[in-house]
Amino acid sequence: MAIDFKEHIASVENFPNEGIIFRDITPILQDPELYKEATRRLAEYAKSKNADVIVGPEARGFIVGCPVATELGLGFVPARKPHKLPREVERASYDLEYGSNSLEMHKDAIKPGQRVVVCDDLLATAGTLRASKELIERLGGELVGAAFYIELPDLHGRETLPGVDIFSLVQYHGA
Ligand code: PRP
Ligand code: MG
Repeated sequence: MAIDFKEHIASVENFPNEGIIFRDITPILQDPELYKEATRRLAEYAKSKNADVIVGPEARGFIVGCPVATELGLGFVPARKPHKLPREVERASYDLEYGSNSLEMHKDAIKPGQRVVVCDDLLATAGTLRASKELIERLGGELVGAAFYIELPDLHGRETLPGVDIFSLVQYHGA
């Protein structure tokens, strides 16, 4: 299907801060055919990587990753913001422009040797993906790929993760 996903991503200037252009994927989610097609393309990618499990970082990674997992008949593992998961967790921190943030995963969420694909809406600086990778590896899994709706190549996120295969539906330069 020839779809230009950019036509269905809203670009909102100066949100959430001055000088930032927010790339809003909700128009894709609101259209059942587009959401399905975006899911199908990420699922095709994850399948090509022989994924055993899909990880999605809270919150938008849930929206993107859960349907990919069910489409492929795989399990889904949430990487959550701190103090949300009730059992024993691993935690990894990553830097933001101001301050830092953390993600947690249940210690038993991934079995040693499992092949993991991370799904999320956006790859920017890749702090979220680096923290996800650290958690996956601490649990004994292998990050075999990461799939996004949107990539901002000018922020050089993928260059901070040499050797990690990255797939994105659309790229925005000059972000
Ligand atoms: C956004 C986005 C990605 C991440 C990308 O999440 O959904 O997860 O930032 O940025 P990075 O590549 O520089 O890490 P955010 O933490 O803003 O929160 P949300 O998903 O809960 O809305
Ligand atoms: Mg996010």
